Amino acid sequence: MTKVITYGTFDLFHEGHYRLLKRAKALGDYLIVGVTTEAYDKTRGKLNVVDSLVTRIENIKKTGFADEIIIEETEGQKFNDIKRLGIDIFTVGSDWTGCFDYLKDYCKVVYLERTKNISSTMLREQNSHIQRVGIIGTGRIAARFMPEAKLVSGISAQGVYNPHRDSAARFAERWEIEAYGDLEEFFETVDVVYVASPHETHYGYIKGALAHGKHVLCEKPMVLERAQAEELFRCAKERGLILFEGIKTAYCPGFQKLLGIACSGSIGSIRNVEACFTKLEAPDTRELTDRRYGGSFTELGSYCMLPILKLLGRDYEEIRFESLKGENGLDLFTKVSLKYPNGVATATCGLGVKSEGRLLIAGTKGYIVAEAPWWKTTYFEVHHENPGDVQKYSEIFLGDGLRYEISDFLSMINGAEKHNFKLTRGESVALAGMMEGFLRQAGR
Ligand code: CTP
Repeated sequence: MTKVITYGTFDLFHEGHYRLLKRAKALGDYLIVGVTTEAYDKTRGKLNVVDSLVTRIENIKKTGFADEIIIEETEGQKFNDIKRLGIDIFTVGSDWTGCFDYLKDYCKVVYLERTKNISSTMLREQNSHIQRVGIIGTGRIAARFMPEAKLVSGISAQGVYNPHRDSAARFAERWEIEAYGDLEEFFETVDVVYVASPHETHYGYIKGALAHGKHVLCEKPMVLERAQAEELFRCAKERGLILFEGIKTAYCPGFQKLLGIACSGSIGSIRNVEACFTKLEAPDTRELTDRRYGGSFTELGSYCMLPILKLLGRDYEEIRFESLKGENGLDLFTKVSLKYPNGVATATCGLGVKSEGRLLIAGTKGYIVAEAPWWKTTYFEVHHENPGDVQKYSEIFLGDGLRYEISDFLSMINGAEKHNFKLTRGESVALAGMMEGFLRQAGR
């Protein structure tokens, strides 16, 4: 019996897929089809797969060509599958010619001619209108957004707004987009807005964008008052628009995996979360000179509070802030302590004090530790009472990681409301409330 194997995503099943499977089956007697998971596709840069794994498998089954379907979860799996399953022929479409020649030592490799003028990418683009994104703000984070947005299909940068026209013009030239100094004109020419301006301006820009019927992705901290967050989410809901806070950690695959394991019972009930993020900044940066809204908590607090809110919830009984301030009154180092009915937590942020940036989650049966930069989660360990009992997990984090939140933002615009679980509106409102409490206590 000749065993054949092929792999693919098979999203929005189309004629090219059907023809490939038909010819793959004809190469032998028994056809195995490997279907990629959403997580694996994300690691290889396919960020906008529309169909769920179940739907993609169902579509392959319906063709009647597959004798067996397996799941492809990791890079390097093909080699192991070929050995394990006793494969005679490996085949894929001609778009991959040469890429799998390394498998020739283990089986025959056949590249089948790809069907012309059809692909999942093409169908995804036809199905979803390309969203023209307008960027508000021209700082470091806006510059990081640009190359990341290019990697997500279905979105295209259209223009940039900055009340300082010169800055807008420089940014626009660098990224080959339009510059706007007039906000009305800017809102009229874009479909969605990315807000990356100074914190205190977010509220006004989001309100304006929503009033013009635009979906909004806003950098953290979204707003600095609880009531503002509630008002904006209400406004977005009434208008059927998406308002989305961009805390990149919340959307990256490694952090999702960590939360899944923390909540799986493997470390028992969670009793303590400690999150620390410090980043030494030059004294003349905005973070250390903006006397009203700068400082370590407004800058880094969203990251540290994220795992705490995710794992212990929003119903804390007590919250206490302790800060070490610089000469201009801004906090160089802030420690937040929270008390819950069945747990405690601390968040530590520093811009002028360096510490070990780690995330530690303690439970009744064990603990999880993720070292810096845990906010770009790539690796973590699960420990138990027996020091030898350690599970190690790794996950990919590509580039600056903004691609994950952009992709989820786009999925929500296109109707995938389920993505809201990664950072809920309630959590964003709670974060705004914490920022408000902190600034009030700091007398700002
Ligand atoms: N395929 C093909 N002809 C096409 C499209 C795909 O023969 N027109 C083959 C691919 O070469 C691969 C298999 O179908 O062997 C699964 O491909 P997949 O990557 O899932 O489909 P694409 O349409 O290429 O998807 P995308 O546009 O997302 O890359």
